[in-house]
Amino acid sequence: MTAELTWGRRYLMCPPTHFDVSYAINPWMDLSVEVDRERAQRQWQALVTTYRDAGAQIELLEPRAGLPGLVFTANLGIVDAKTFIPARMRHDQRRAEPQHAERWFRARGFEISSLGEDVVQEGAGDALPFGDTLVTGYGGRSAAGAYVDLQRVVTGRIAPVKLSDPRFYHLDIVFCPLGARSALIAAGALGPDDARLLTELVPDPIVLTDEEAAAFCANSVVIGRTVVMAACTPRLERELRARDLEPLVVDVSEFLKAGGGPRCLTLALDVALGRQDSATVTVRPVAERMRIDRWLWAARFFKTRGLAAEAVKGGRVHVDGQSVKPSKEVGAGDRLEIAVGQARRHVLVLGIAPRRGPASEAALLYEESAASVAERERIAAERRLSAPPDFDRGGRPTKRDRRRLDADRRARRGRG
Ligand code: ARG
Repeated sequence: MTAELTWGRRYLMCPPTHFDVSYAINPWMDLSVEVDRERAQRQWQALVTTYRDAGAQIELLEPRAGLPGLVFTANLGIVDAKTFIPARMRHDQRRAEPQHAERWFRARGFEISSLGEDVVQEGAGDALPFGDTLVTGYGGRSAAGAYVDLQRVVTGRIAPVKLSDPRFYHLDIVFCPLGARSALIAAGALGPDDARLLTELVPDPIVLTDEEAAAFCANSVVIGRTVVMAACTPRLERELRARDLEPLVVDVSEFLKAGGGPRCLTLALDVALGRQDSATVTVRPVAERMRIDRWLWAARFFKTRGLAAEAVKGGRVHVDGQSVKPSKEVGAGDRLEIAVGQARRHVLVLGIAPRRGPASEAALLYEESAASVAERERIAAERRLSAPPDFDRGGRPTKRDRRRLDADRRARRGRG
């Protein structure tokens, strides 16, 4: 048994009036395969009925000629309570869609929160809440750096997951929250670190077989205890029922031709991410690599990239015990030893950043060892203790110095 999700009872959908496979932007799309528009219409209508019967409220977005991908509303943006964060699509063919959605949200009183213009983020298709964590996908459609921008507009924790198999290009094809404790995870479609991140995040995961993953089993919509799926296997059905969940298989074959299933056809409207009082955003930064001189600068170890490069050239920065060149690329898991001032700082790289942000963001890029922190504090304390009295530093004694000096003299006189 898993407690029900706190969201998933209200969705935005768009009728497939103009749905088609007229371009190929994922490996499932085959231009030689024809879409049966009438059949698509029937399947979509049946899906709406299924969702409503399961207890969901369905809102409609007006379809638009020239935007065949608009049916996949999951990609239009991210909803966070009364805020809408429009997506920034990777491909030209879908770039006009989020604007269309933005108008719908504006008209309903949502606040619009924009991501940077150079960011690529494909909406809820790459951002699914699990507990107080927003799991985000990157490496497929959304760019690695998107989480840095998301961090500015959402509260709560963000956990970026790298998508490395082109067939599983959006997070919602590999991950499906089922309730407070459980989720479907297509672990085989992910690299070992990313699979582990998810299986550790979810207390009671159901790991999909490769066959189930390829059948879009993770692209399911969960409404209370009903799981609306494109496909299910006897094994998976048993797993779901053991958790008091009921699988309901629907025919979405026309949409699978475009690489989309039940989840892609919906955008949850009742998602509220981190509570407003949870100011801290903890992020597991992305597992990409970047030049060490840029990293040192982005992580705020040096004021400029030039100073960072000089330190690297001067042998003051070691990677896994070795001296390196400024062009050396570093990424999550690398151990750095950085000589700054008198201190030697030992840090574990957690991720990279596309640019130098404020200290709070820089701090997310690495973890400093406890010994290194203690050493730094010891040096600072020593410096404080061994510092000569102020007036010995040159310059005139302060009033306080004078008072102390006079007191000393009086004491000496008294003794003598
Ligand atoms: N043909 C669409 C595309 O490639 C399918 C979108 C699927 N959406 C999703 N959330 N996985 O963009």
